Amino acid sequence: MKFWVITDTSLPRVNEDMVVLPCFEHDFDGNFAKTESVSHFNTLSQGSLLKHASVREFAGKNGQTMLHFLSSSILSSQKALLMGVGKSSEVTLASVQLALKEAFKTIGSDKAEQVTFDLKPILALGIDPFALGKMISITGHLILYTGLNYKTKNAPKSKFSKLRVIADATNAGAILQGLQEGDAIGRSVNFARDLTTMPANVLTPAQLKNYAQLVEKESGGSIKGKYYDKKKLAKMKANAILSVHQGSSKAPWLSELTYTPESGPTATHLFIVGKSVCFDSGGLDLKPAAGMRFMKRDMAGGAVALGIIKAVAALKLPISLTVILPAVENMPDGNAFRPGDYIETMSGLTVEVDNTDAEGRLTLADAITWAQKQGATHIIDFATLTGAVKSIGGDVAAGLFGNNASFTQLVADTARSQDEQVEVMTMHPELRELNASDVADLSNSGGELAGSTTAAWFIREFAGEKTPWVHFDIAGVAYRNRAIKLDPRGSTGFGVRTGVALVQAMAKNQK
Ligand code: BES
Ligand code: MN
Ligand code: ZN
Repeated sequence: MKFWVITDTSLPRVNEDMVVLPCFEHDFDGNFAKTESVSHFNTLSQGSLLKHASVREFAGKNGQTMLHFLSSSILSSQKALLMGVGKSSEVTLASVQLALKEAFKTIGSDKAEQVTFDLKPILALGIDPFALGKMISITGHLILYTGLNYKTKNAPKSKFSKLRVIADATNAGAILQGLQEGDAIGRSVNFARDLTTMPANVLTPAQLKNYAQLVEKESGGSIKGKYYDKKKLAKMKANAILSVHQGSSKAPWLSELTYTPESGPTATHLFIVGKSVCFDSGGLDLKPAAGMRFMKRDMAGGAVALGIIKAVAALKLPISLTVILPAVENMPDGNAFRPGDYIETMSGLTVEVDNTDAEGRLTLADAITWAQKQGATHIIDFATLTGAVKSIGGDVAAGLFGNNASFTQLVADTARSQDEQVEVMTMHPELRELNASDVADLSNSGGELAGSTTAAWFIREFAGEKTPWVHFDIAGVAYRNRAIKLDPRGSTGFGVRTGVALVQAMAKNQK
């Protein structure tokens, strides 16, 4: 998306497909507009705009919209979109987002390419211009996202390319900054969504590494990548990652991208590990058809991690960040790892494989150990780890687990501030014992009582207790079968907004 901010308010010269005009609820009493731009366009349309509004019973209620075709012989703008924002006394950033969501839906269905938003009436209420700009572009990206697809006919595609806003000169700079920040974040969320949606024959571990290299290249030098192939993984003693890979013909790749701020490395060094199982058949403990059907998405955590670092680099945030993507495929064949096998993980801890379908925690174990070896001061992981997490947060909230109450709280607060919901789970110590094995230090499944918390405990054995660590189980939220909030049906990129905001919060805290 491209952004312009115009402070010249001579509305008829706005030469776009569509102008979006905020309307307050009480403005329509008696069918007249108190808002300058509405009354202006009404006059220019010879009264047809508000006549139409009256017929349609458009009242300016929050979330209500009405598209009106203006006569192009009078005006250069072809359409006016009335955007109800509710009563002016009740307008908040959150209520504006609801209005924007509906506006962008119309922009999408109308296939508009260029749109001008009149923001003056909203800004006049004291809404923060930076936050408003950011919200507009994030909402635009999320709502207009049409989803990756391989249709050769009638493929849905967004035509939207240019957004401009009308604002006072005093607000223009802040709005533009907000629009640009939201643009970087929105792009990164949609990048993560695309990767998550890609099928496993397209997005192999090697291909995921290629996307990591692309993110590195795009950063213009602020991100440096290291890529570890099978040989290097063996040297690193990443035996848990290699065990999961064993049954696949696709080469494993661990990508490690490090972003360093312009001013140099910082004392705080956040590591984000993303589960990157490009396909999870379950291995020899093969999944049934219904359970396997969508396992191309089992690398959603890796996609989110890549999306976060892409945005962090674009925004030049002042904190050191490394993302680690241990990319493998979990397949059954004659070389596959077996139930009962034992693995000596990179950390030295030994694991008995109880179930080859509990593969994600094995890949995370080595990746987190690697993060520790590289000097992580804080670790987060995103993983489509357990089906059981759906019984906690459904498709709304991710399960959140951690080893440090204040860091977990910071992460949870940050997620909620970004409209990404989390359920903070207590890691009862008694559940830790369920990962015990008769023959090794740990078993990779919690047995009869296996669930999201036993999986989190398994990972925690490798994160340890010294480095603050938080685990997001995103198995329920990485993809939705229905549209909620700003996400249409499909991959959500859940976690990108939280990750970026967390980096910003940690950067603030370190000063
Ligand atoms: N990738 C799955 C978890 C999953 C399930 C993600 C459904 C998205 C939707 C994971 O590797 C897995 O298979 N977990 C098992 C663990 C069990 C064998 C201990 C599970 O949740 O059943
Ligand atoms: Mn599995
Ligand atoms: Zn899995």
